[in-house]
Amino acid sequence: MTTVYTNIKELFQIRDASIKRVIGSQMKECPSIKNAFIKIKDGVIEDFGKMSDLVVVENQDQIVDVQNTIVTPGYVDSHTHLVFAATREKEFEDRINGLTYEQIAARGGGILNSAARLQDMSEDELYEQALIRLKEVIKTGTTSIEIKSGYGLSMEGELKMLRVIKRLKETELSPGVFMSIKATFLGAHAVPLKYKDNKQDYVDFIIAEMLPKVASENLADYIDVFCEKNYFSVSQMVQILEAGAKYGLKAKVHVNQFNVLGAIKKAVEHNAISVDHLEVLEDEDLESLSNSKTIATALPSCSFFLGLDYTPVHDLMDKDIAVALASDYNPGSTPSGNLNFVFSLACIKMKMTPQQAFNALTINAAAAVELDESVGSITKGKRADLLFFKNIDNLAGIPYNFGTSQIDKVMISGTFM
Ligand code: NIG
Ligand code: FE
Repeated sequence: MTTVYTNIKELFQIRDASIKRVIGSQMKECPSIKNAFIKIKDGVIEDFGKMSDLVVVENQDQIVDVQNTIVTPGYVDSHTHLVFAATREKEFEDRINGLTYEQIAARGGGILNSAARLQDMSEDELYEQALIRLKEVIKTGTTSIEIKSGYGLSMEGELKMLRVIKRLKETELSPGVFMSIKATFLGAHAVPLKYKDNKQDYVDFIIAEMLPKVASENLADYIDVFCEKNYFSVSQMVQILEAGAKYGLKAKVHVNQFNVLGAIKKAVEHNAISVDHLEVLEDEDLESLSNSKTIATALPSCSFFLGLDYTPVHDLMDKDIAVALASDYNPGSTPSGNLNFVFSLACIKMKMTPQQAFNALTINAAAAVELDESVGSITKGKRADLLFFKNIDNLAGIPYNFGTSQIDKVMISGTFM
């Protein structure tokens, strides 16, 4: 049976299968069809077009009139830390009272605080909590997601997190429906206290002990490092990326959040799929990224929550660098996985047009997790991961209505969630 959704007010992000990402002036366009239909068979987009061109096959096509709804592909969240053990409201209050993120971390708070809480939680409980969050972000339009480890910081802790992510991948959300999830190993998220005075020993432990185990259980798709002052140096990032590459793990890295250390150049040289954060950027960084395939991922909710500068996305787009947007959902710097809010911030704070921001949340975000063959646009043969919006007249209506979600229904693999 084929289901045909008819009378769509406007169907956005129509792309030919050959378009894998958009850059520069292409980011200003989000091709659409007004008064459209879309046909879905076995969870896959079979056809779409103008209502006037619709041919209905009797006894085969089931018609669903969506009555002036706007339809788009689902959002792809290419950078999250959705598996965690506890929230961190105390640090939130400490920041209100004047401490910085870096000062809180220096006192043993921050990532180390999350790691301590995670050690005490069972894998089952961690999974149950993460599943609740996953279902929440689906409601706000996320239909594919990347999830990192990095709150374990010990062999058991990191494996526990990665096994939870694997269980989420295998979770049937509805009969026959699984979310597309990518897992990233972020053992180098912070230096555990016991390695405080011999950081390199922890790096060696990640490379010699953790990585082989992660790889042997096939628990990760990517490798990540938080390359930052007081965390991991550029040279340590390079050691870890090179070790990861031996196991086929490509790089997606946290860089340029607080300081420019030269990590982007090295990440690009190591064929990173994406470099993420980029709140601070220098000309040399832009130079490295232009002419590379590496995607620049901005995380505006993190800037919002911590009061940091926003990623200068126009400098990136002006250099034809592919820009993606993601949530960074985590308990410390971004306790929200709502990509509608990211969409609003991108437009309001970073002056991206709705079209640029939407491209960054869909097609370019899909490329940032190498899911561009299957999701991120309305393309024949791609998964029917769709959002149905009511009460808006155009794409700008999504970010304009900041703080609320205009999404009426979310579809994954042709099934309403
Ligand atoms: O991407 N910057 C590094 N990691 C996370 C924050 C982690 C935390 O504070 O728990 C981020 O913002
Ligand atoms: Fe992050």
